Amino acid sequence: KSPKEAINVFDFEPVARANVPPAHFGYMASGIDDEVTLRANREDFRKFQLMPHRLNDVSKIDTSIELFGTKYDSPIFVCPTGANQFFHPDGELAVARAAKAGNHLQMLSTSSNFSVDDVTKERGGPVWFQLYASPSFEVAKALIKRADGAGCPVLMVTVDRLAGRNQETLFRLMKSDTRQCSGCHDRSSFASRALRRHNYDGIDLTGIKGAGESSNLDWDTVKRMRDVTKMKIMLKGIITADDAELAVQNGIDGILVSNHGGRGEDNGRSTIDALPEIITAVKGRMPVIVDSGFRRGTDAVKALAMGAQAVGVGRPYLWGLGAFGQEGVERVLELVRIETKAAMQQCGAKSVKELNASYVRRVT
Ligand code: FNR
Repeated sequence: KSPKEAINVFDFEPVARANVPPAHFGYMASGIDDEVTLRANREDFRKFQLMPHRLNDVSKIDTSIELFGTKYDSPIFVCPTGANQFFHPDGELAVARAAKAGNHLQMLSTSSNFSVDDVTKERGGPVWFQLYASPSFEVAKALIKRADGAGCPVLMVTVDRLAGRNQETLFRLMKSDTRQCSGCHDRSSFASRALRRHNYDGIDLTGIKGAGESSNLDWDTVKRMRDVTKMKIMLKGIITADDAELAVQNGIDGILVSNHGGRGEDNGRSTIDALPEIITAVKGRMPVIVDSGFRRGTDAVKALAMGAQAVGVGRPYLWGLGAFGQEGVERVLELVRIETKAAMQQCGAKSVKELNASYVRRVT
């Protein structure tokens, strides 16, 4: 089997499932509780239809985008996901090589197995750093300094992972896979798990229980971050118009509309459903990008037409990574890019900029 045989991104999922340990697959696949949000992220694309503009010359399609002055060849970006060595020994380095091959924006998780310096080198250019703030501001500050030092232009602060979470799919698969792996299904302390999360190297983690569980995070914490870095600050996990407005008022540079791929609270709301009201609230005052459930070029075009400036994928590239390493990730990103280009062409939009609300309508 080769990644070139894949017809769409879903083809990678069974190959990854066969390759990676069950608990690791569970870590990736899991939602929360009844996984209503996880399913809504896929199902709700059906609530929206594309509205093609005919008789435009679309012989040349430009899928590039620009964010904070940097150009990327595709509107599809690589979401930050933790511990990529669960899926392939080359982990985030393989992802970086694939992102470089297609000139995609890559976001790197705080919980990556390779450090932001090593991944930046492999990407051949800056990545955006996703921050799990941690309950201690000192830890957050040390991580921010590390990202600054690596030349990251954007700090993506994740705001939707505050509590321990009921990942039932993961818990069930863990029962059939009792190995200790110093990772997702490690029952030992966070400090020992962090030994393989190299962004934490040299940082004192005494008393820290988890990477994501920063339940004390508030607007004031984000303000304090502003004082310790010149990076642009974006928030990942905004899902309501009210919070988007607050983000503008608090001087945030941009937001990623996300429900963490259905891995935060099981609130039942998809991001494609939330996106239009958030775009309306923001009124172009800062960039809005989106992720959660995006698998098809038409999914991406719907969000871009609503006004998102870029669209992220998480699990699809992890399926690619687990199935074939770098080549799998490359092919997944290529497939979404090819589909996006075809959907733009079919819809009569030559460039991402040309897509606007007239290309999409809500049907339910
Ligand atoms: C994630 N996500 C995530 N987000 C984040 O801010 N920091 C992280 O470390 C992780 N880790 C992580 C691990 C795994 C295995 C998954 C699947 C997801 C969430 C991720 O950035 C993104 O929001 C979702 O993956 C997007 O949804 P889809 O594309 O997976 O449906």
